[in-house]
Amino acid sequence: MALKIEIRPPSFQTAMHIEHGLLNGELLKTLAGPRIALVADTALSDLYAKPLAQRIGADLFLIPSGEKAKTWDALKRLTEQLIEKGHGRDTTLVALGGGSAIDLVGFTASIYLRGVSLVLLPTTLLGMVDAAIGAKTGINLTSGKNLLGTVYPPKAVIADLDLLQSLPKTELFNGMAEIVKMGLIADVSLLQMTDLDQLVLAAAKAKIVILEKDPLDRGLRRILNFGHTIGHALEFVSLYRMSHGQAVSLGCVVESYLSMHLGYLPEKEFVRIPPTPVRLPADYDRKKLLQAMARDKKNQTGETRFVLIDRIGHAMSFDGEYCCSVALQDIDDALNWMEKKFS
Ligand code: GLY
Repeated sequence: MALKIEIRPPSFQTAMHIEHGLLNGELLKTLAGPRIALVADTALSDLYAKPLAQRIGADLFLIPSGEKAKTWDALKRLTEQLIEKGHGRDTTLVALGGGSAIDLVGFTASIYLRGVSLVLLPTTLLGMVDAAIGAKTGINLTSGKNLLGTVYPPKAVIADLDLLQSLPKTELFNGMAEIVKMGLIADVSLLQMTDLDQLVLAAAKAKIVILEKDPLDRGLRRILNFGHTIGHALEFVSLYRMSHGQAVSLGCVVESYLSMHLGYLPEKEFVRIPPTPVRLPADYDRKKLLQAMARDKKNQTGETRFVLIDRIGHAMSFDGEYCCSVALQDIDDALNWMEKKFS
C-alpha cells in the first residue's frame, strides 16, 4: 500500500510513503543523505528513537512533546545542538513525532544553514493525514499559534501504519478531528469509512488533491482551515490544555452552525454533522477568545474571517478567497450557541 505523490511546482516535490513496517529505517537510509540528524519527540526516545538512530547511524536530538516543541527555546536549543555536533549542509534532518515535532523540525530544516534536506516520519494519525502533508512548518509566538513559519517541502514522508495500532485514544481523536474536517469540506466519503488504514490513505489523497491546485495557500488551500478560526483560538486561550483535535472538533461544529446561521448550510444538512464529545474548558473566556480570533492568519483589514460550508463535503468559494468576513453580531450569535451547548 504505497502512495507516491508529486506536488507541483517542481520545486515542491515530496515522495510520500504510507505503508506498514516502514519504521525499520531501510527506506529512510535510501532516501536520506550520508549524514542524518534524527530529531524525535522525547516521549518516543526509548521505544522508537534510540533504536532507529542506532540502526541508521544517526545523531539523536530530543525535543519536548506537544506544543512545547513549537517555541523559540526549543528552536534555539536544537539549532545550537546541531552546530555543536558539526552538522553541515549535507545533513538531512529527520523528524520523528506528531504534528508539533513535524512543525518544529520542518521550520528548523528551512532556516538551518539557509536550508537542509528534510524527511518526515509522522508517528500520529494527525501527523500522517495533516501535518506531514503540504510542507507547512512553524512555531508559536506568545501572541498566537503558528505565527512564524515557512513552506518547506520535505524530500519524503514515511508514514508507518503500524504505529497507529498502539496510539492512545486521545491521539486517535486528534487525527479523526482533521479527518472529519476533511469530510465536511471536501470528501463526504471520509465520514462513512471505518477502516483506519483506508481512512489514512483517503484523507491523505483528499488533502493532496487540494494541494495540487493551491500548494502555496493562496486560495483553495484555505478551506483546510475550516473549524480552525475558532479551533486555534480555543487552543491558544486554553494555554494548549485543549488539544488541537479537541479544539478543531468543536471549531468544526460551531463553524458549521455559523454556516447555517448565515443561511448557507441547510438545517437538514447541519443536523447530520457528526456530534463532538468536546466541552469548553472551565476557565473559558469569550473576550479572550475573540481577541485570539482577531489574530487569525486568514484575517484581512482587521476583520475575522471564516471558511464556511454550504453542504456536507463542500466548502464555499467567495470569489476565489474561500473564506469570508463575518459580522461581529453573527460571531456573537454562534458563540452564544456554543456556550449554551458545550459549557
Ligand atoms: N493544516 C492546514 C494546511 O496544511 O494548509
